[in-house]
Amino acid sequence: MSNTQLNGKDFLTWLDFDRDEIDAILETAHDLKRKQIRGELQTDVLPAKSLFMLFYNTSLRTRNSFEAGMTQLGGHAHFLQPGAVYTPALKGEEEAYSTERVSDVARVLSEMGDAISIRIYGNKTGWEYGKGYKILKKFAEWASIPIINMEDDGYHPCQALADVMTMQEKMGEDLTGKKFTMSWAYSGSVEKPLSVPQSAIISAGMMGMDVTLAHPEGFDLDPEVLNSTEKLAKKHGGDFEIVHDMEEGFEGADVVYPKSWTVQPTDGGTADLDKAEKLFSENEDWITTEDKMGLTNDAYYMHCLPADRDMEVTDEVIDGPNSVVFEEAGNRLHAQKGLLSLLLS
Ligand code: CP
Repeated sequence: MSNTQLNGKDFLTWLDFDRDEIDAILETAHDLKRKQIRGELQTDVLPAKSLFMLFYNTSLRTRNSFEAGMTQLGGHAHFLQPGAVYTPALKGEEEAYSTERVSDVARVLSEMGDAISIRIYGNKTGWEYGKGYKILKKFAEWASIPIINMEDDGYHPCQALADVMTMQEKMGEDLTGKKFTMSWAYSGSVEKPLSVPQSAIISAGMMGMDVTLAHPEGFDLDPEVLNSTEKLAKKHGGDFEIVHDMEEGFEGADVVYPKSWTVQPTDGGTADLDKAEKLFSENEDWITTEDKMGLTNDAYYMHCLPADRDMEVTDEVIDGPNSVVFEEAGNRLHAQKGLLSLLLS
């Protein structure tokens, strides 16, 4: 199970990893899941190891999957809530934090444990695209233990591990050529980062899937992510296209992943949430219904959760036979156990 090449690495985005490394994480995750199902104890994988989890934003799945995962592997996860412990207060640039500097927090925690995981995006970064990632990079610069991205404004790489793991369980390990559609979907809240759709298309591209990105005009993702997705998909036997019609995106899809994201400049500046409200209200028909699912190749319906029911998706679809959202959420646990066991062992 051990892969010394990954030991000590940071996990900020899939773009820092090659296909062999991602495959090693996924294979380990599947193996650990099989062992858990057989009732085999796994507490000898990371005995007495500590993960420090720093959450600036709320979470159900990420917090509990990391915490349960560390316990199951024989270690422990510490939940660090800004305001209750000294943590960087994120005011201003670089080192100008009002409580304790990133450089100090990172070095202190490195003396005590084995990895630091961080979630920071959206209103915590003033909707400034890339700011959360910069903070993660700053932690990585100063920490001598791995930094794990639990979601920033641009990436949610642990979600992507669980997503691919779920698709492999449903369609087999080799996903090459399967049509994966990441679609924008309407929500009553515009406060949605680009992290999930961006990590989803990058990961599907790396798996060699035929990736379709569907969204209304004005909801563009980061051009660097689009460029990387196209290169990855072509390198691994797949393809990449962008369409501006939800039905067109769904046609013939093997997997659909309809999820809302905000309108956000990716080349500097902060998101204009008033403009986003207007664009959202013009696209309320971007909801996943049984009729739209009927256009697909009997596709699996995926969502990272929480989903906005009756806006992003109808109850019939998310609670229907093609929905894999709860297995997908459960795979957060197994995927991250695979990741932790390789980075920390
Ligand atoms: N999918 C996901 O990251 O869920 P949480 O926000 O509950 O962690």
